[in-house]
Amino acid sequence: MKKMKADGVPISMITAYDYPSAKLAEEAGVDVILVGDSLGNVVQGQQSTLPVTLDEMIYHTKLVTRAISAPFVVADMPFMTYHGSLDQSLHNIGRLMREGLCKAVKMEGGVEIAHTVQASVQAGVPVMGHIGLTPQSVYQIGGYRVQGKNNEQARKLIDDAKVLEQAGAFAIVLELVTDELAEQITKQLSIPTIGIGAGPHCDGQVLVFHDLLQYASPVIPKKFVKAYANIGDSIRNGIAEYVKEVKNRSFPSQEHAFHAELEAAGPLYGGKSEG
Ligand code: KIV
Repeated sequence: MKKMKADGVPISMITAYDYPSAKLAEEAGVDVILVGDSLGNVVQGQQSTLPVTLDEMIYHTKLVTRAISAPFVVADMPFMTYHGSLDQSLHNIGRLMREGLCKAVKMEGGVEIAHTVQASVQAGVPVMGHIGLTPQSVYQIGGYRVQGKNNEQARKLIDDAKVLEQAGAFAIVLELVTDELAEQITKQLSIPTIGIGAGPHCDGQVLVFHDLLQYASPVIPKKFVKAYANIGDSIRNGIAEYVKEVKNRSFPSQEHAFHAELEAAGPLYGGKSEG
């Protein structure tokens, strides 16, 4: 990914949470797959990512890595699993890597988590940072708001990005930060930035699978999302057609039915076996 940044090659990243979504993402040629804790919102129907557990992240990461051969798979460390003692954090990070079989983990936060990032990197774990709007701190931030709009916030985010780079992070997600700030951070780092709602100047972009494909999402439209397909409508229409055909008895038709001559079928049907 560092080479892609150096060569000016944009990095494409998408979330996936299970075997079919990961398979389709790989077939479509994506560079990086993120098993995001956004699964709390889009798969579990929760109000935030906070209820997602380490065991759930491990389960979904397994489903994704089982499907993947080429793309680099990064998995999110969930809420409060990397904020206790360093020993406990490393234990949890080790579980996600060893059981989920991902190649890297992502952690939210800047200066506050730099020592954990550094210790993980020293232990051989590739770490992706995540700053700006950090959904695990949504209740502290007070909502899903664009970050870096004033000088104080902008300075803090630039510091966070530099400290994460020094701590050994190999890339940083910038979520919901102003275009101007994302451009500055991207220019000041040697590691790639991956933007979501952070404008076009980042080294790569990430979107949530369910958002970009309109898979029963979003309930509230998001300005930074572009919908590339509407599989929610396709699925709903397909199921409605199936229900209609079951009700009017046009499905199944004879073409979907199996037949056998009772006499020739043998003992299974209570007839006499010829052998
Ligand atoms: O959990 C997630 O999907 C994420 C992306 C929004 C970057 O962290």
